[in-house]
Amino acid sequence: MLETLKTPGDTSWFTHDRFGLFIHWGLYALGARHEWLKNNEKITNEVYDEKYFKRFDPDLYDPNLWAKAASGAGMKYFVITTKHHEGFCLWDSKHTDYKATNTPAKRDLLSPMVDAFRSRDMRVGFYHSVIDWHHPHYVIDDRIGPYRTAENKDELNKGRDQNKYADYLHAQVRELLTQFGKVDVLWFDFSYPFKDNPADHTRGKSKLAWRSEELYKMIRELAPHIMLDDRLDLPDGWDMKTPEQFQPREWVTVNGQPVVWEGCQTFSGSWGYHRDEQSWKSTEQLIIMLIDSVSKGGNLLLNVGPTARGEFDERALERLNGIGEWMRRHSRSIYGCTQAPAGFKAPQDCRLTYNPTTKRMYVHVLSWPFGGTGTAPIHLDGFRGKVDYAQLLNDGSELMMRDPVNHHGAGTASSTSEEDSIRVMVPIRKPNVTVPVIELFMK
Ligand code: GLC
Repeated sequence: MLETLKTPGDTSWFTHDRFGLFIHWGLYALGARHEWLKNNEKITNEVYDEKYFKRFDPDLYDPNLWAKAASGAGMKYFVITTKHHEGFCLWDSKHTDYKATNTPAKRDLLSPMVDAFRSRDMRVGFYHSVIDWHHPHYVIDDRIGPYRTAENKDELNKGRDQNKYADYLHAQVRELLTQFGKVDVLWFDFSYPFKDNPADHTRGKSKLAWRSEELYKMIRELAPHIMLDDRLDLPDGWDMKTPEQFQPREWVTVNGQPVVWEGCQTFSGSWGYHRDEQSWKSTEQLIIMLIDSVSKGGNLLLNVGPTARGEFDERALERLNGIGEWMRRHSRSIYGCTQAPAGFKAPQDCRLTYNPTTKRMYVHVLSWPFGGTGTAPIHLDGFRGKVDYAQLLNDGSELMMRDPVNHHGAGTASSTSEEDSIRVMVPIRKPNVTVPVIELFMK
């Protein structure tokens, strides 16, 4: 098994559970056209708050339904945006008025969410934006934020003190780590240092803008076990790498060493609720994304952007149901699994996952093979003499194993060393599941 870089947090449950729900929920749900709309359309605080803060009223919000949908999909943890870049807080923070309790929602939305997910045995994660486009002391820079191109930027920055913003950030993180029971994941987003001068907060935001080192100390004091992401601009101390909106081509490494990693992905491109986006991924694509992540030793954090009325929309629910339908029969090829040990080669159009505790190998067949009468072969290179028994995972039906055949003159059965290969014979008709999986009991 590949050893990952040792980090301070508790990664053991994380690399077992593999699958989590990301939730982006804030005022931008009303705009319904990307959580960055305030930045993208350069909307002033006044206009933004007049339109959205004053109208935020999620009357259909029932976090039990959210937790049910997530747990039904096989997810084991969730990460909620306690505050996104817009600065709006879902909980009743002592340090700001810019919070759910002061909108027509008139209540803390975070606590009931945490309770609902915990009651389904799901772990709790907080995403917290270090970027803040609302706080009066956040120094306006020319890189991002609604005021980035304002002609009177210098004027707007008069009296702003980034240090005071950092105090606010630290105080809020303290609240989050002390008022909601055990928090398992802390997911900060994000630093964008101005390389020539990391101390110039008007050009970018480095670890100096957040006083990351001091913040880090406090976090480890309050929650030594916590899984921390890698976006505080600190070289060490993080527990996971967080590739965003792409699938790494192999196990993510840092200085050549494999690390714990979690890919975060959306259903459709936007993180916040986006009504008109047409680029929704299919259930099959999402299941393959999960399989692909685990086959490379990683996790998948899949995002839902609930609506302004507090619901998961039907497109998200449809996909979560579809994933859950697959997970019901195939989750043991995901939980506790990781990349296959060296030497085992994934067959054509397949991914391998491996559970080192049960010593079972899973062949996820992304494209069903053809050929033969009654059965078709899947060629497994590197498996000769190593498999005890094979079955389809969806129904536990036995699959026959055979040695490779050599079709003289008609190409070879396998392009690599044949002495190393076996064939597993599968029915020519694809099982009626989104991605069929072959379970191999290894010797
Ligand atoms: C980004 C975006 C953001 C999203 C996040 C999730 O960096 O700023 O809107 O919350 O990634 O990873």
